Amino acid sequence: MDKPPVHDFTADVAEFLNMDDVRFTAGCRHAKWAVMHMVCEQGDTVVVDALAHYTSYLAAEANKLNIVEVPHNGYPRFEIDPQGYATKFEEVEQKTGKLPSIAVLTHVDYRYGNIADAQKVGEICKEYGVPFLLNTAYSSGIMPVDGKKLHVDFLCGSGHKSWAASAPIGYWPQRMNGAARCSINQRAAAIGADADFQKGSCIVRMLACLWRARGNDYGVISSSC
Ligand SMILES: Cc1ncc(COP(=O)(O)O)c(C=O)c1O
Repeated sequence: MDKPPVHDFTADVAEFLNMDDVRFTAGCRHAKWAVMHMVCEQGDTVVVDALAHYTSYLAAEANKLNIVEVPHNGYPRFEIDPQGYATKFEEVEQKTGKLPSIAVLTHVDYRYGNIADAQKVGEICKEYGVPFLLNTAYSSGIMPVDGKKLHVDFLCGSGHKSWAASAPIGYWPQRMNGAARCSINQRAAAIGADADFQKGSCIVRMLACLWRARGNDYGVISSSC
């Protein structure tokens, strides 16, 4: 679609987050479900942080995955120790004979507002070869998120949170190396998560948000909306 320039916007969001590709979804929860649906098989294990939003659990349960939590350190700081991911990966491998299919970290959690050390978790995931999904519902859009620097394979986020768009809209940027391989993208196409046509008005709101943040790069918007 050229007017409004949704196609350009998709590329701009990917560039903004330093990822290779972006798809729009029916919310952050849908993005999580879709990523898990792509990379996991039923009965696989997903490792999540103990501060994960309930929608991470819903996404995993809907995909029939086993959930293993990386604990936080409790009162008063409630922090996630990135090393906990390595510990859980090894425990899962010992118990099931294979590594988890995906690791999920909540970048900024909804309960305490802690900012997790995503880069460290990304490094650990890379070392173990476990695909890494970072939930940026409360970070991307309002604070710098550089997907490649953080070693993520997938991001997910919520346009109606940190992008000030109308609901419901989520986004799912991915990298085309590592976990997001060819066959995986065929599955993505099957999922049909390219919701550009259904999500038109929400996308235009997200677009307006990036437009405001960057200065008027989308001259066409002002004349067409
Ligand atoms: C941390 C976090 N992740 C995901 C979600 C779900 O977002 P969405 O409504 O876009 O599915 C929420 C919603 O509050 C959240 O707080």
